[in-house]
Amino acid sequence: MTGIEYDDFLDLDYEPTGTDLVCEFSIAPASDMSMEAAASRVASESANGTWAALHVDEAELTDLSAVACDIRENAGPGGNVTVAYPTDLFEDGSMAQILSCIAGNIMGMKAVDSIRLEDCKWPETLVEGFPGPQFGTAVAHEKLDAGDRPVLATVPKPKVGLSTDAHVDIAEQAWRGGVDLLKDDENLTDQYFNPFEDRVERSLSVARELTEETGEKKDYLVNITAETDEMVRRAEFVADQGGGFIMVDVVTAGWSAVQTVRDVAEKHDLAIHAHRAMHAAFDRMDHHGVSMRTLAQVARLCGVDHIHTGTAGLGKLENEDTPGINAWLKSDLYGTTDVLPVASGGLHPGVIDALIDALGTDIAIQAGGGIHGHPDGTEAGARALRQSVEASMQGVPLRDHADAGNPELAAALDKWGAETPR
Ligand code: 3PG
Repeated sequence: MTGIEYDDFLDLDYEPTGTDLVCEFSIAPASDMSMEAAASRVASESANGTWAALHVDEAELTDLSAVACDIRENAGPGGNVTVAYPTDLFEDGSMAQILSCIAGNIMGMKAVDSIRLEDCKWPETLVEGFPGPQFGTAVAHEKLDAGDRPVLATVPKPKVGLSTDAHVDIAEQAWRGGVDLLKDDENLTDQYFNPFEDRVERSLSVARELTEETGEKKDYLVNITAETDEMVRRAEFVADQGGGFIMVDVVTAGWSAVQTVRDVAEKHDLAIHAHRAMHAAFDRMDHHGVSMRTLAQVARLCGVDHIHTGTAGLGKLENEDTPGINAWLKSDLYGTTDVLPVASGGLHPGVIDALIDALGTDIAIQAGGGIHGHPDGTEAGARALRQSVEASMQGVPLRDHADAGNPELAAALDKWGAETPR
């Protein structure tokens, strides 16, 4: 018999092996607990331990203990803890099971006042269990004609309530004005005022017309978010209608559903656009939850091709480490395809130069209000966005480009300047 106690999960001399999943947590221990005591409890509860000392027949036990192997105390309460998990703890290819370990019960333990999963270093053996994205940044030329510029997308506003006629009309104007992709908003799915099948059929038919008219591929990020079987049915419908993309609200739909959709997407050659609605419930507080960096890692493993990662503080959403997350999405991960990061939320033509400075051109830029709120309407708004991208890529100040025969950009700059909306 062997005893298993919390102390068994702390070993500050342990060096993680190449097959361990290594997680970085920031932890504020409960007021009556040391960092060591809290760290060992986190390693225990997220792997194979519990609050009571256990007496187990070693012959009947596979040892799957995690190890809290590094503690860095901060000036304030708490600090950072590294926990190494043996890969055998995890079921191959099950993101739900992995998250139930590394971001499960530990999030609510009394032993910590707060705990945040900041980052993961994924071993090759775990990564190989997941498909990863099919297209990633290559969608810009494999499915679209964006070339070296950012992929441009727009979501009709108001986000829900428009009739299908109005939705399709806005789509037509936006494509004609120069965006590549129409996008549904996160809460537009299949409601009576704008039913899914009618919207998809008509929008994709207009996309084909505009592809012909403009000579640039136009496509549609169709929000298929629903119960999983229904998502599969909707993805198949999009493929039948000739669409090249589907969109999933990945956090609200859940990672297992995303994994199912990823398989279907491959059968039909569909790229997956991940909207992250609800992510901030996990990542907004800098001392508790799961970081956006980790959510983005999870999304890449599950196989999304695009994911929203913020606007480097230039839009309407809380500032976050957009450059760092984007760099991870494009980093080498044992040959896994990269992900195209999407900047979205409060963007308009007047901030595109700063956005491209911060994030580069290998991104998608989505603007809803920043196109449809243009004083001369959607088509002019889309032109203004495209003109702003051109100027930014040529290193020409936006106002100079506006004055050089680009009245749509001039009108957008007159209206919004370089403001960052709230
Ligand atoms: C999104 O899907 O990210 C938002 O609906 C963006 O809308 P906005 O460009 O009007 O802020």
